[in-house]
Order: sequence, then C-alpha cells, then structure tokens
Amino acid sequence: MKLQSSTVLLTGASGGIGNALAREFAARGARLLISGRDTAKLATLSAELRSRGAEVSVLPADLSTAEGAERLAHAALSGGVPDLVVHCAGGMSFGRLDAVPAEAITRLWQTNVIAPSLLTRALLPALRKQARGRLVFVGSIFGSLAFPMYASYSATKFALRGFAEALRRELDGSGIGVTYVAPRYTRTALNDGAPARIAQALAMHQDEPAAVAARIADAIERDRREVYFGFAERIFVKLNAWFPWLVDRGLRAQTQRMRELEPAAAGLPRQA
Ligand SMILES: NC(=O)c1ccc[n+]([C@@H]2O[C@H](COP(=O)([O-])OP(=O)(O)OC[C@H]3O[C@@H](n4cnc5c(N)ncnc54)[C@H](OP(=O)(O)O)[C@@H]3O)[C@@H](O)[C@H]2O)c1
Repeated sequence: MKLQSSTVLLTGASGGIGNALAREFAARGARLLISGRDTAKLATLSAELRSRGAEVSVLPADLSTAEGAERLAHAALSGGVPDLVVHCAGGMSFGRLDAVPAEAITRLWQTNVIAPSLLTRALLPALRKQARGRLVFVGSIFGSLAFPMYASYSATKFALRGFAEALRRELDGSGIGVTYVAPRYTRTALNDGAPARIAQALAMHQDEPAAVAARIADAIERDRREVYFGFAERIFVKLNAWFPWLVDRGLRAQTQRMRELEPAAAGLPRQA
C-alpha cells in the first residue's frame, strides 16, 4: 500500500521507534492518528509534524486496560476508517523471573498482547467493510529467540508473532494485509538501565530508531509479510527453530556474563 494520503493509526507514538515512525509516515504523506499515554510528548510531536504540513490527530490511551484499547478503537473510528494500523506500543521487563513483580507481568501481557488483540478485534468489522488496509505488529527478535532475563518480554513477543501469523491467514482474501516486524536492539528509552549497560558491555549491535522506522515504512509500501532486523539475528532464529540445544549452549557464556555485569539482574527499567 502507498503511505501517501493514507490514514495511519499509530500506537506507541510517544516512544522512540513510534516517534520515528510518525516522522517517517508524515514525510511520506500520510495522515496520522497518534496514540500514547504521555500527552506532553504527543503534543510536541504533533506540533512538529503539523509545522511540516502533516495532518495529525492525537488520541491518548492507556493500553494496560481492556477499556483503554476499546476506547482508542472507538476514537479512531469516529473520524473514519484507518487504512493502516501500526501496533507499536509496548513495555518490557528485565531481570530474573522471580524478582519481577507479579503485577508487572500481568501489565506486560495486557499492553504487549491483549491490547493489540482487542484493538484489532474492535477495528476489524470496519476494516472488513472497506476491504482494504494493513495491520502492522511491532514484535521483536526476542519473539523468535527467547532470551534469559527477558522471560516475560520474550513470551509476550512470541504470543504477538503467533497472533499476527494466525490473523494473516484468517484475513487471506479479505484485502487486509498483516505485517509482523522483529527489530533487534534499538536505541530507545525501553532499554534504559541494565539492558543498555549490558548491550554496551557485550558490544551488541544497536540500531537507530530512524533507520528502523524507514525500513518498516518500506516494508509497508511493499506489502511485506514480515521484517526481521539483522543478518546474524535471522540466522540465530533459524538455528533456534531447528537446533535449540545449540542456542542454549551458545547463550550460556552470555548469560553468565549478564549475571556478572548485573548481579542483582532484577531492574525493571521500563514498564508497560
Ligand atoms: N528498543 C528496542 O530495543 C526494541 C527492540 C525490539 C522491539 N521493540 C519494540 O518496539 C516497540 C516500541 O518500543 P520503543 O523501543 O520505541 O520503546 P519506548 O521508547 O519505551 O516506547 C514505548 C511506547 O509504548 C507506549 N506504551 C507503553 N506502555 C503503554 C501503555 N500501557 N499504554 C499505552 N502506551 C504504552 C509508550 O507510551 P508512553 O511513553 O506515552 O507511556 C511509548 O510510546 C515496542 O513494542 C518494543 O517491544 C523495541
């Protein structure tokens, strides 16, 4: 689909990747409905985009509750049916599972999995009626390659990938496409704290949000089913599917290093 003159509903627009996506979509001529919780950040972003001639509406929403997702769908549909829905909002939890508060795990599932499911469900009848459009789900490389210290986060992204795959098959022939996106480590506030320190110490490759956004926008314009970032990461994903025991062994040294670097390994840098 062409982004020029299309209407895009974007969640997580106040975050690092979402901000970059909003700029990229606006630069390609899209009309934007931007969502997030931080109304000050959304106002700054919308002012910037409008000053460049973009048409932008702000729809604040807290996606950690079922009502938040339903209300956002309602607000989005009140101005017409979006052509493109990009589910970018997401939280993260890092640390040994037994050190993560139970309530944080529940909130993470709500924001990363249940909210995109409910939002999609609420928008689908209208999308089906217009028989065109695209749904984009921002997952993670951890949605195919589960990582120690990220058990809950990895599990939510595995679930989101399964949801996107099933939906793509369910919507086959409806005119509505589905794209699943799996970024690797990207320099945003999501990784503030221990994950950023570990990435630095392990010399992990770090993508810039603007580059990630440009690649996602290209994938949308080419109607791609999925986008995986990083050649080595893609190889690891394949290896993990066929020989998980090899990846278990391969990650052992890295896990040990993470324990040494972050003995507490229980920080919760960014919550949903
Ligand atoms: N950064 C990475 O290394 C990386 C790698 C792979 C995948 N991803 C995925 O990329 C997406 C964007 O992450 P990011 O790196 O841009 O993180 P970020 O800068 O922390 O932004 C997260 C965004 O999600 C929104 N959000 C979080 N909880 C929410 C809630 N309960 N209700 C509504 N909105 C909520 C935030 O809104 P407010 O700020 O307004 O609260 C913010 O807009 C996430 O799905 C993440 O899992 C990131």
